[in-house]
Amino acid sequence: MLGNIIFWVILLAVAVAAGYGVWRAWHLKRPALKWSVTPLAGLLTLVLTLAVVLIGVGIVKAYTPRGNPVVERSVASTPERLVRGEHIARVLCSSCHSLVSGELPMSGGEDVLAEVGIPFGVATAPNLTPGGRIDEWSDGELLRVIREGTYPNGHLMTIMSSQTFRVFSQEDLDKGGDFLERDHLGLIAQELEVLFPEAVTEDEATGLKYVAYDMMIVPLVESIKALTAEIEELKARIR
Ligand code: HEC
Repeated sequence: MLGNIIFWVILLAVAVAAGYGVWRAWHLKRPALKWSVTPLAGLLTLVLTLAVVLIGVGIVKAYTPRGNPVVERSVASTPERLVRGEHIARVLCSSCHSLVSGELPMSGGEDVLAEVGIPFGVATAPNLTPGGRIDEWSDGELLRVIREGTYPNGHLMTIMSSQTFRVFSQEDLDKGGDFLERDHLGLIAQELEVLFPEAVTEDEATGLKYVAYDMMIVPLVESIKALTAEIEELKARIR
């Protein structure tokens, strides 16, 4: 939304400048110049004004809150849905919500404004893992945030909301939501299995893998110890 509004403001400024050009042309001393430049500048102003009006109406139509109520859904999680959800997350969401585009987990991104070259303010796409606040929202609230850009408290998103997400099919939205809701760490389960198979359990009925976090504590402490030792050794070498 923000990008489109900025574009619209620039277009408005250009239209106003063109309008000023008409006024200046009309006051030109030499009739030949006056009568050739004025209609051209007038036409340009007309076209620009038309574009400003049409785009303005479009922006208002596209981004005003739709006022749709939160519709609670309970989405049955299946392995296929999670695979597709993960794909959507990588392709459509990770470019902003992850530090490395295409990579998961989406624990928060770089400054989106800096990426698009807007030199004021900082906007980072939030953490979408359980560490973020989406965990506090219901499935229905989460789906409405993604599709309509309306937060549970009714506030509007400014940057993320876009037509791409507004036209999500219900099925794809469910899949994406399912992935965020239930499996934000699911990928880590698959990756973790390679290193610590004992910390991953599999539900035989659904085939879904879960991380047993309590099993992780000892290996984590051990790896911190190993890392610290390595850092100390490197420090000693530098000295
Ligand atoms: C263009 C960058 C961009 C893309 C792509 C993007 N987001 Fe976002 N997202 C943001 C930003 C920035 C915010 C902060 C709110 C705002 O836009 O003002 C946000 C907020 C959110 C929030 C609210 C989280 C919170 O804690 O407030 C959710 C949920 C979310 N995004 C999900 C998604 C999903 C799912 C996708 C992919 C389908 C996606 N986003 C794609 C930039 C992006």
